[in-house]
Amino acid sequence: MFNSIKKIEQGSSIDHVINHYPKLKRSFLFLVVQEYYRNYENHNRILLNYIHNKTSKNILTLLKISLTLLFFSNKPAFAIVNDSVKEGKFLKKEKLVNAVLRNILRDKYKIKYDKFIYPDFKKILDKIFSSNSIRDYVYSTLFTKPENYQISLIDKEDALYGKRVFRLEKKIIKGCFVQDVGNFEVINTVHKFFKNKNLIDVCAAPGGKSILLNSLGFNVYAIDKSQKQINKFKENINRLNLKINIQQIDFLKKRFTSRYDSILLDAPCSALGTFRRNPDVTVKIDKPDMRKQQKTQIQMIEKSLKILNKNGFIVYIVCSFHPFETIEVIDKIMQKHKNIRLHNINSNKMIKRQNGYFINPLSFKEIGGSDIFFVSVIEKIR
Ligand SMILES: C[S@@+](CC[C@H](N)C(=O)[O-])C[C@H]1O[C@@H](n2cnc3c(N)ncnc32)[C@H](O)[C@@H]1O
Repeated sequence: MFNSIKKIEQGSSIDHVINHYPKLKRSFLFLVVQEYYRNYENHNRILLNYIHNKTSKNILTLLKISLTLLFFSNKPAFAIVNDSVKEGKFLKKEKLVNAVLRNILRDKYKIKYDKFIYPDFKKILDKIFSSNSIRDYVYSTLFTKPENYQISLIDKEDALYGKRVFRLEKKIIKGCFVQDVGNFEVINTVHKFFKNKNLIDVCAAPGGKSILLNSLGFNVYAIDKSQKQINKFKENINRLNLKINIQQIDFLKKRFTSRYDSILLDAPCSALGTFRRNPDVTVKIDKPDMRKQQKTQIQMIEKSLKILNKNGFIVYIVCSFHPFETIEVIDKIMQKHKNIRLHNINSNKMIKRQNGYFINPLSFKEIGGSDIFFVSVIEKIR
């Protein structure tokens, strides 16, 4: 557990780390790691009553894992303390770990869990959502297990939303694929900008958006740099019996001879908007890394502009609400390129901000909330 948290802290995703464990252990570990990150700031505050502020980061991590197990698992307390003290021995602090955990156990029924949010994450969220009701709802979704959705390839009257969206229960229904409702909303709203039912999806894998567009009657040319992600995409289209042209191509390196009227650019990003499923993103906001990512996002829009026909559209999407990856990216593009303009989007489920729109999770409250996406529609006018 300690090593898993270390790997996640160094940049791996929760899924990636958990998938290295035997299948039987995965769901328990997944739940514990998710609760570890959901309660990261709660645990920081609880521990302030038991340790001094010079305690090393490794010991803090170990104590936070113990707290998560004590309060969110059925594992017996003595086993949790024993395991932690053993781990504490490697860090030469077994006495400290033992003493702190015994004190916590003594207070177990007095300890209250509040809803404290990691300050860096809260600051960014508050920048984007100024309404208190939206903020409070988004905060609350950080502490609950998210609803999972599946999208039907065809319209169905008994759907939860948009004639396509269903809850994902135990198994995927035949003719459905897994996708967040926010993702569905973005594509369902912006697809009207794509001309002649044709488009190139330049960061397409694992295929959520391409598959939805294909089901809406679009001819999609899908490319992605990652073979591993493309394999997942192919599994999906084989299961659904679809025909989509997918090629492994690095969009930034490829020399295109064709020009396009419609480009979908679902750019790589921090995935901050998926914090309900990946709560580790809330404590891993790394500014230098985001600046680097921003450079790539800008390069990708510029490459898209190069291969776009006049009066063609780029739909830029990220599953993030960090200004670096959203408002600022478009700002920098607008300053440099005078031959473009932005378009308005018509959705009562999104909030308009400078340069684009953010999904409003509160508008999906009735069906369990949504991830947060940013979308901006760019037209090349000259
Ligand atoms: C946000 S994900 C795309 C998700 C996908 N559109 C969907 O809806 O399922 C970003 C993707 O960009 C791909 N990517 C990153 N850099 C790329 C590049 N230079 N060229 C093409 N694809 C790239 C990654 O492999 C990753 O699959």
